[in-house]
Amino acid sequence: MARLIIVSNRLPMSLHSRPDGTYVLTQNIGGLSTAIGPYHKSHKDCLWVGWSGIDPTTRTEDEINAISDEFTRHRCIPIFLDSKQINGYYAGYSNDTLWPLFHDFAHEAKFDSLTWKAYEEVNEKFADTIAALANPDDTVWVQDYHLMLLPALLRARQPKLKIGWFLHIPFPSPEIFHQLPNGKELLEGLMGADLLGFHTEDFCANFLASVKSMLNLGIDKGGRISVQEDGRQRFVTVDAFPIGMDYGLYRRNARSSLAQAMRHGIEAFSGKRTRRVSTSLSAESRAAAEAEESWSAYTEDDLSEVKLAQSAAAKRGTRDNKVIVSVDRLDYTKGLPERLRAFALMLSRYPEWVGHVTYYLLATPSREGVESYRQLKEHVDQLVGEINGKYSLLSWTPIHYITRSLPIKPVCGIYSAGDVALVTPLRDGMNLVAKEYLASRDGRDGALVLSDQCGAASELTDAYIVNPYDTEAVCEALHSALEISSAEAKRRNAVMQARLKYRTASLWSTEFLSALRQVSDPRWADRRL
Ligand code: ADP
Ligand code: F6P
Repeated sequence: MARLIIVSNRLPMSLHSRPDGTYVLTQNIGGLSTAIGPYHKSHKDCLWVGWSGIDPTTRTEDEINAISDEFTRHRCIPIFLDSKQINGYYAGYSNDTLWPLFHDFAHEAKFDSLTWKAYEEVNEKFADTIAALANPDDTVWVQDYHLMLLPALLRARQPKLKIGWFLHIPFPSPEIFHQLPNGKELLEGLMGADLLGFHTEDFCANFLASVKSMLNLGIDKGGRISVQEDGRQRFVTVDAFPIGMDYGLYRRNARSSLAQAMRHGIEAFSGKRTRRVSTSLSAESRAAAEAEESWSAYTEDDLSEVKLAQSAAAKRGTRDNKVIVSVDRLDYTKGLPERLRAFALMLSRYPEWVGHVTYYLLATPSREGVESYRQLKEHVDQLVGEINGKYSLLSWTPIHYITRSLPIKPVCGIYSAGDVALVTPLRDGMNLVAKEYLASRDGRDGALVLSDQCGAASELTDAYIVNPYDTEAVCEALHSALEISSAEAKRRNAVMQARLKYRTASLWSTEFLSALRQVSDPRWADRRL
């Protein structure tokens, strides 16, 4: 029977050793595993090939066999890469060259012939593993920028395979792509596929413009590139497939008792549930008075904090306190420092929020082997510290900063507690967090402040769309989003939720795979999608 083989750099799960020598698998975070993981789980004829996350030089042969068996039990085929390969191919060429360049951070991109060599070597290794595993009538679906050479390497080894490739990040403009010394080889690598998918029409147009200027190939109006192979013509089709998410899964998890317990905890902590503004203030003054005997012991300076809180409370009256949330990998493309500056500006421009809005910032370290990511972490730590230091009151901390990676239910608990989700990447292929927030608030209010620089912005047009670099605009949008009426928020959300409910991750996989089946059918050569 023909099978589907999904291929990505990272498998959807990581393996950890228990003290008793057994292994446990945990779900990896990131858009790719969130989107394709459920499809792989529910299709028993589907295999997933990817990097195991384990350096084989640190393990015995028996351990490697046991690890492979554990992965195979979950229909995952692990590829073992040593630290030199990972440093060159993953931390180096993929994440220090392609990632910044494709996200329009060309100044961050490093060009190094050694990392390029490692990238070529690892793509070859993937091709050898898959060619040994695949039958000629199988379909191979390659994911992302780590494996751009793989389609042509596979085609050379198994010409009959149906090969698709999908890019989960933006494709840059031709001016930026031309800066890449090995750009031509990457495009040639992709020409081994039958179908190339991008999140948006704009990314497709950028890609075709680079193909047009760098490869001497014909492109028809339907976005089909014609390539010559062994004297025969073959088509490579390019199309947009905006990725979705499992709406029902997030809606269900957000309603689970664990997520609801988290929501209530957050609401209590941020003064939404158990305390009203006035009682929270008096608790603060009482505590201060008990510690210092009487108010007369205070100077004007001592009292300035209480006055600040009192004047904020007076302006806000007895309205509910609010919660802002965000969930990200700690990545410079996510715009965390810019977002924090906008939040701080809001506290200073609208002091009535001081003491009355708490920002839950879930930001998990990512790619810690890359220097720019380590620096970003330090920068974010420092900014959070500065803002908390400057604005905290005795009974309130503006930013609740969590750097662990949390399972889906607590993440949904955070979404569920968030009156506003602040999703402001500087550049992002799609951004699933924005969609997960809306699904978690199915039928409820809650406002989304969304960057215009991510693929999701072209779908979620009823959000507060902002330029993430414009601190003033983000501050104003945040303030408006916090002030939105429940009815207006529900109205906006209903429009976006209706779309998300329909355009799920599963529909996305099905549409991509059925298009791939169609375009790789030789009878299709004279027709269009
Ligand atoms: P990317 O693929 O660049 O990480 P996306 O927004 O498309 O960005 O997808 C991120 C996925 O990872 C989402 O499913 C989100 O819920 C999950 N995620 C991100 N950060 C965390 C975190 N700190 N803890 C748990 N899950 C996270
Ligand atoms: O969305 C782009 C991407 O590289 C995905 O492939 C992956 O899910 C996510 O970012 C996380 O990246 P990494 O696997 O490098 O931690």
